[in-house]
Amino acid sequence: MVQASAPGKCILFGEHAVVYGQPAVAVAIDQRMNVGIETSEEWRIDGMRFHPERHPHVEALKQRLWEDGPPLSIKIFGEIPPASGLGSSAALSVAASAALRCARGRQLIDDDWAEGWTAARPNNVYEGPWEFVMGDSLEVGAKAVDVDECAILSHAVEAVAQGGKASPLDSSTCSHGGCIVLSDKVESDLNWLYSRNLNDVSWEVHSIDLNIPDDVWLVVGSTGIHAPTSQQVAKVASVLEENPDRMREIETIGIISRRGIDALMKGDMEGVGRAMSENHLLLRSLGVSCSELEALITAAAPSSLGVKLTGAGGGGCMIALTRNPKETSEAIELAGGRTLISRLASPGMRVDNDENCPIWEPK
Ligand code: MEV
Repeated sequence: MVQASAPGKCILFGEHAVVYGQPAVAVAIDQRMNVGIETSEEWRIDGMRFHPERHPHVEALKQRLWEDGPPLSIKIFGEIPPASGLGSSAALSVAASAALRCARGRQLIDDDWAEGWTAARPNNVYEGPWEFVMGDSLEVGAKAVDVDECAILSHAVEAVAQGGKASPLDSSTCSHGGCIVLSDKVESDLNWLYSRNLNDVSWEVHSIDLNIPDDVWLVVGSTGIHAPTSQQVAKVASVLEENPDRMREIETIGIISRRGIDALMKGDMEGVGRAMSENHLLLRSLGVSCSELEALITAAAPSSLGVKLTGAGGGGCMIALTRNPKETSEAIELAGGRTLISRLASPGMRVDNDENCPIWEPK
C-alpha cells in the first residue's frame, strides 16, 4: 500500500483576518493524518463504498490527479479530530495528493518535470485545471512528490469546500510543516516561499526558522463541538457586510499578528503569549468564540503564557502556550475539554511507503 502523511496545524495569529489578506502565523503540530492507497475492484474508503459527496476533498483530488486511473481502496487514519480547527481536512488533502502523485509518478521530458501543478506554473499561482502532458520518461515513488504541488492542490480543494473563500494558511502549513507566515507583502526578514492568489486576494507565503525554547509547549483543548469552517467564514463575512467599519478589527488582528511574528523571531515567548491573548479578544468580539471555548480559555489562562481559540472557532479548539503543559492540560480537562500536547513547528508532509510504484501508468 502506498502511504503518505501530513501534520495538522494550529494558528497562532490571524485566523479569519487572513481571508482578507492580513498577516497570519500557523505551526505544524505533532498529530498527523495518514492516507494509504491501493488499486481495487471498486472505489472504497475505509472499506466502505466511496460517496463523493461525503468525501469532497478526496473527490476533488481524484478529478485532478487520478481522472482516468483505476478504482482505489483508500485508508484514512490519524490523530486529528475532524472539524476541530486543527487542519484535519488540509492534512488529509496534502497526504492524499502526495499518495496519489507517488502512486502515478510524474512525467519527465529531457529529465525535466513535464506535468503537474508546479511544473506547469512556475509562480505557483492557482489557475484552474491542469492538463496532462505525456513525457518521455517517468519519475516514480517519493521522488515524484513535490511539497509545493501538495500545498497548491490542498488549497484548491479547501477553496472548493469553503465556497471559494480559503487562505493558503492551512494547506501550506500542513504541507511544508514548521512555521508558516502569510502576509500581503514579501517580508524581507522571513524566508519567502511563493505567492498565492485566489478570487482577487493574494498572499505571500513565508516560512520562519523558529528558535523555540525546549520548555515551551502548545496545549490544544478541544470543545468536541463540530464547527464547519465554511459557516464561520460566512459569519465573519456577514458581520463585515452589515458594518463595513468593522474591517478595522480585521486590520487590528493584522497588527497583533505582526507583533507576534516579531516576538517569535526574537524567541520572546512572553511576547508571543501576550499577542495570542490579545488576538483572542478580537476574535471574540467578531463573534467566532462560544461559551465552551471561553470556559477552556479561562481555565488554561492562569498556567499559560497566552491563550486563544485556534482556527475557525464556534466550537473546535483553543490553544495555550505554556511552560507547564501538565498543569495546563489538567485545568482544561477539568473544565470539560479534551487535550493534545504538541511541540511547535513539527515536520511536514512525508511519504511513508512508496514500494511498487507506480501502481498505475496513464496511457
Ligand atoms: C481556518 O483554519 C482558518 C480560517 O482563517 C479560514 C482560512 O484561512 O481559510 C478561519
